[in-house]
Amino acid sequence: MSEAIPEAVGAVPPLAAIHVPRLSVERATELGDEDLQALCEATNAAILDGGGFGWVNPPGQQALERYFRGVLLVPERELFIGRADGVVTASAQLVRPPRNNEAQSHSAQFMHAFVAPYARGHGLARLMMLKVEERARAQGYRVLNLDVRETQTAAIALYEALGYQRWGEHPAYARVRGKLVRGFFYTKVLKRDGKD
Ligand SMILES: CC(C)(COP(=O)(O)OP(=O)(O)OC[C@H]1O[C@@H](n2cnc3c(N)ncnc32)[C@H](O)[C@@H]1OP(=O)(O)O)[C@@H](O)C(=O)NCCC(=O)NCCS
Repeated sequence: MSEAIPEAVGAVPPLAAIHVPRLSVERATELGDEDLQALCEATNAAILDGGGFGWVNPPGQQALERYFRGVLLVPERELFIGRADGVVTASAQLVRPPRNNEAQSHSAQFMHAFVAPYARGHGLARLMMLKVEERARAQGYRVLNLDVRETQTAAIALYEALGYQRWGEHPAYARVRGKLVRGFFYTKVLKRDGKD
């Protein structure tokens, strides 16, 4: 005798119907029009969602375009873009210390990371972070530093899962809609040289 299978509660799609996007991350040294448009759209959506990147209010398409074109020209900055199914939906920057800062020439900064709300939850941020770490290691950096608003809980979970250690807090790190927000500072040793 076969048992009746109860009706599924809610609309859970069959596995075959769940789209798993193809993810990729690359270092961008130039941006074609289509990629730049998609990057600005992703940035705009992330800002509207309250997602960091310094901006609280979207500065508008033209300002974002100028901003990203400018980033490509800054010698200390490397821009990484993440794609879901070929479309740019994420970015992050690797920032090197200025040349006069010899004492900190072993460390770089991970900054301005975000994934557009419509591309989240598929592993793109993790992939982007790992690619940036790989690039930093390849360039000889031993330490990667980053900081984040306390309200960015998804990012904090990601950083801690990847082994970043919180070493400090800033009580007045950011001001968002008239409210002061704490900031957390993280660091990760990428490679040791035996003398550390
Ligand atoms: C943080 C952010 C980049 C994550 O992007 P994402 O592509 O969705 O993240 P991933 O799918 O790669 O998830 C990687 C890990 O992040 C953490 N994470 C992601 N989303 C999370 C959520 N909503 N809640 C808790 N942890 C979360 C988890 O540790 C996850 O690992 P798991 O899937 O094994 O649990 C994205 O939510 C975002 O852009 N947020 C706003 C901007 C921001 O906070 N930027 C960082 C400022 S420094």
